[in-house]
Amino acid sequence: MKVGIIGGSGFDDFGELNVRDRLTPTTSWGEPSSPLICGAFGNTEVVFIARHGETHDIPPHRVNYRANIAALKDQQVSAIYAVNVVGGINREMCPGDVVIPDQIIDYTWGREHTYSDGPSSDSPSVPLQHVDFTNPYDATLKDKLLQQAIHLGLHVHAGGVYGATQGPRLETAAEIARMERDDCDIVGMTGMPEAALAREQGIPYACLALVVNLAAGLGDGDISMDQIQQTIDSRMADIRRLLVAVAKNTE
Ligand code: HPA
Repeated sequence: MKVGIIGGSGFDDFGELNVRDRLTPTTSWGEPSSPLICGAFGNTEVVFIARHGETHDIPPHRVNYRANIAALKDQQVSAIYAVNVVGGINREMCPGDVVIPDQIIDYTWGREHTYSDGPSSDSPSVPLQHVDFTNPYDATLKDKLLQQAIHLGLHVHAGGVYGATQGPRLETAAEIARMERDDCDIVGMTGMPEAALAREQGIPYACLALVVNLAAGLGDGDISMDQIQQTIDSRMADIRRLLVAVAKNTE
């Protein structure tokens, strides 16, 4: 089996991977965010891509999500694990916790969010399809993440609603209050359109979210970038261990 892993903030490389190839493909949708790093853990082949680029300079609204998913599709991956850092809205989802969301609400705008873009667009013509998106994340992949997270003793939440915002700024306290009324549990800037594009391409997809701060208005005062970075620095090793374990246990 071949799995795609999309690394987010704090996860711009996958040093644990025994690298066999470094590909720089172009897709019908343009260039992916980074070279594709190909390697293996045992029998599982892995293709890693850094969502924000190797030097982490592509902001969430400028990521070429279509090219990233298309490049993984061209590599024939049969599953995608996406890593995202998020703010916690649900009071139980605290900095350092892992969340495996089961739902998503899209608050982003102006992103190239579909392959079915119509005959008049500049993009390659793809027949119009209205994909089912009732359950945006794949049940089997979510379960693999959950089981391994439990096995590794991580503080993990099974399920939750991911609210995807436009960024790159963080939210206002009022925006978070609205998202809380909408039942969002976590907030991040990169969950969409990535999940929907994977669905359009027919690739099972799941999200591994690391909570790195309390969302706006929920902590004491303003959100501190230093604290976000400290949480990323202290928790990312566990996220990497989790992905290695999941890849190794993927048949
Ligand atoms: N909001 C949006 N995206 C984020 C946050 C947040 O509070 N934390 C990490 N990514």
